[in-house]
Amino acid sequence: MSVHPAAPAAPVWHVAPPRGWLNDPNGLCLADGRWHAYFQHHPFDDRWGPMHWGHVSSADGLHWQHHPVALEPDELGTIFSGSVVHDLDGVAGAGRAAWVACFTHHADSVQHQSLAFSHDGGATWTKHSGNPVIRGEVADFRDPKVWRAGDGRWHLVVTLADRLEFHVSDDLVHWTRTGDFRADLGADVGNWECPDVVPMPDGRHLLVLSLSTGGPGGNSGTVVMPGRFDGRSFEQTGEVVPFDHGPDWYAAQTFWNAGDRHPVAMAWMNSWAYANEVPSRGTRGLLSLPRHLSWDGDDGCRSWPAVRPVIDAEGGARWIEHDGDVMVTIVGAESEVRAGVVDGEAFVERTGGLFAGHDGRFGAPLRGDGPHVVVVDHGSVEVFADGGRVTVTAQVFAGPEPAVRVQRP
Ligand code: FRU
Repeated sequence: MSVHPAAPAAPVWHVAPPRGWLNDPNGLCLADGRWHAYFQHHPFDDRWGPMHWGHVSSADGLHWQHHPVALEPDELGTIFSGSVVHDLDGVAGAGRAAWVACFTHHADSVQHQSLAFSHDGGATWTKHSGNPVIRGEVADFRDPKVWRAGDGRWHLVVTLADRLEFHVSDDLVHWTRTGDFRADLGADVGNWECPDVVPMPDGRHLLVLSLSTGGPGGNSGTVVMPGRFDGRSFEQTGEVVPFDHGPDWYAAQTFWNAGDRHPVAMAWMNSWAYANEVPSRGTRGLLSLPRHLSWDGDDGCRSWPAVRPVIDAEGGARWIEHDGDVMVTIVGAESEVRAGVVDGEAFVERTGGLFAGHDGRFGAPLRGDGPHVVVVDHGSVEVFADGGRVTVTAQVFAGPEPAVRVQRP
C-alpha cells in the first residue's frame, strides 16, 4: 500500500482505524465513564471488503485507544453495521449486565440479524449460538438499531432498501415484527441505510436515516425526520431536514447516555461516492466528533460538539470558537480547503481536483445568530455554525502537515 502525498496524518481528536479501512460507527455507547465505538472495519486492506467490527474506547470522546478486532466474519457471513445495548437485567440469558451486540450477518444474496455477547465490558465477544435471531430473505435487510422504549420492551428498527421494519422483544433473542414505515424521499434516493429512532426528551422521536445516494448534497447523506414512535411503528410529523450540509457525514448513529440532556451522534466522515478512491496513507476512513443532537422548534435539527478539548491546539488539531464571521484556510501541496461562517452562510469549499467529487462549495444559510465552532483535525473540518443549527462536515486532503490560517474579519 502506497502513501498518497495528499493523505492526511492520523487524526488527534477523531477515530481512525489502526490499519486498513473504516466505515460506519457501530455499537456506540458509554459505560463506566468510557466511550466505546465499534466500527465497520477491513483490517487487511485500505478498501472496503469483508467486514469486521473494529473497537476503540476513550475517556474523553476525543483521544481514542485502539483495541483488538471485536467481531470477525463466520460461517453465516461478514459483520455489517449494528448497535450495542447493556442488558442490565440479564433478560437475554447471557447474565446480568452482559453487553449485547445486534448486527447484520451479510452473505452473498441474503442478510440476517444476529447477536453477540460480551462479559468483559465490550472487549471480547461470543456470538449467540442461535444466530440468526431475525432471518432475512433478501439482499438488503440490515443495520439493526436496538433501544429500550418507555414501555420497558426492547425495540429494533432495521432497513429493507426503501422501507423500515420494526420488531419488538422482551429478551433480545425472540423478536416479533410490529410494523413498517415507508416515505417518499425522492426519485434519486438509493438504499436507506443505518436507521435510528431517537427518543427525545419532549416525547418526540427523530428518525435519523442515511441515504446511499440522493442525500443532502446529492451523494450519500443523512437526513432527520421528526415524528412519533407508538411502540409499533413510526409516524412522520414534519419535514425531512439534512442532518449536516457537508459532503462527508454518513451512517450516523446515536445513543442516549443516562444523565445527558441530549442524545449523542457520531458519523462516518465520508461518502460512498468516493470513499474507496480518497488519498490513502495505508489506512482510510475516520469518524466525526461526538455531537449532541437536538430538535430546534419546528424547523430543523441542531448538533453541537458533545466534547470539548482542554487545549485549543494539539498536534495539528485546532478548536476555533467565535461569535462572528470566521474563516479557516487549510493549504496542502495539492489542495486548498476554506471553511467557516461568512456573510450569513456556513460553508466548506474544496479545490484542487484530487478526485471526482472532491471539489465544490457545500453549505447553507444560517438560521439564527448563535456562536460558531470550527474543528480542524488531520483529515477533516467540522463547522458548527449558529449554535449548531447549521453544520458542514468535510474531509480534508492537504497532506500530513497542512498550513492552517484562521481569519476573523
Ligand atoms: C452504510 C453501509 C451499511 C452496511 C455497511 C457495510 O455505509 O452500507 O448499510 O451495514 O455500510 O459496511
